[in-house]
Amino acid sequence: MKKQDFLKVISNNLIAKNIFKMCLVCGCDLEFIPGQFLNIKIDGFYLRRPMSICDFENGIITIVYKIVGKGTEALSKISKGNKLDVIFPLGNGFDIKKSYDNITIIGGGVGLAPLYFLFKTLKKMNKKVIVYAGFRTLSEIFFEEEFSSIGEFIISTQDGTKGNKGLIIDILDKDCDYYFTCGPALMMESVRKILGQNGQFLLEERMACGFGACMSCVCKTKFGAKRVCKEGPVFFANEF
Ligand SMILES: Cc1cc2nc3c(=O)[nH]c(=O)nc-3n(C[C@H](O)[C@H](O)[C@H](O)COP(=O)(O)OP(=O)(O)OC[C@H]3O[C@@H](n4cnc5c(N)ncnc54)[C@H](O)[C@@H]3O)c2cc1C
Ligand code: FES
Repeated sequence: MKKQDFLKVISNNLIAKNIFKMCLVCGCDLEFIPGQFLNIKIDGFYLRRPMSICDFENGIITIVYKIVGKGTEALSKISKGNKLDVIFPLGNGFDIKKSYDNITIIGGGVGLAPLYFLFKTLKKMNKKVIVYAGFRTLSEIFFEEEFSSIGEFIISTQDGTKGNKGLIIDILDKDCDYYFTCGPALMMESVRKILGQNGQFLLEERMACGFGACMSCVCKTKFGAKRVCKEGPVFFANEF
């Protein structure tokens, strides 16, 4: 069940080029599913900004976000000690019960953020998981230590400044039973072409209300129009 609360910011730091990590105290006993998101009110902006739950541990919610416009820029200036008006948890999250044992996770840029919580959860379930992460360049890489300390983490950069040179989709091992992906639409479409229909996508469409009321985030699926905030943001690959 979603709730609205004021969550205290305990840190908000630059961790890579234009990428920030913010930790919020969640004084609640809610359970979160990887892939769910928060909708954050930022002073001076009418619409809330959706951000995936990147981690949840010991009552602390972590988000990792990229500055792409005025809202995220304002978010980056919020100092620790402030409280943010947040609606959470929203969306359906990844369906991890149906997943297979030999799993591939593919993230592109800041699309990797929600996949950290997923990776941790799958590893706790003793699943075999490999994470592939594609970035444009070395300065944009984040959470390398965090991912690597849990399991296999393969990086590519388009300019070759770290890891394999080129696109992450060029080095995917096709030998997997199931996949989860989040990142640029073109990357996710390529993942589907390469790995097939046994997988799930997290879509980061533009949103308004964030909980199914306004229809501004509708996307077309084989089974009709669906709201990314309510029926998503996670969809099965075979829905498209
Ligand atoms: C379910 C969900 C989870 C998300 N999780 C994360 C996350 O973990 N980390 C993160 O950095 N971002 C995430 N996003 C995207 C994030 O919400 C937007 O980047 C943010 O709202 C932009 O706000 P802004 O005011 O800075 O940009 P705006 O001024 O609103 O827009 C600046 C530019 O970014 C583009 N843009 C804005 N919102 C989106 C969007 N949702 N998708 C694609 N392009 C967009 C605009 O078209 C414009 O070109 C998520 C989005 C959704 C829907
Ligand atoms: S954002 Fe309002 S219905 Fe999805």
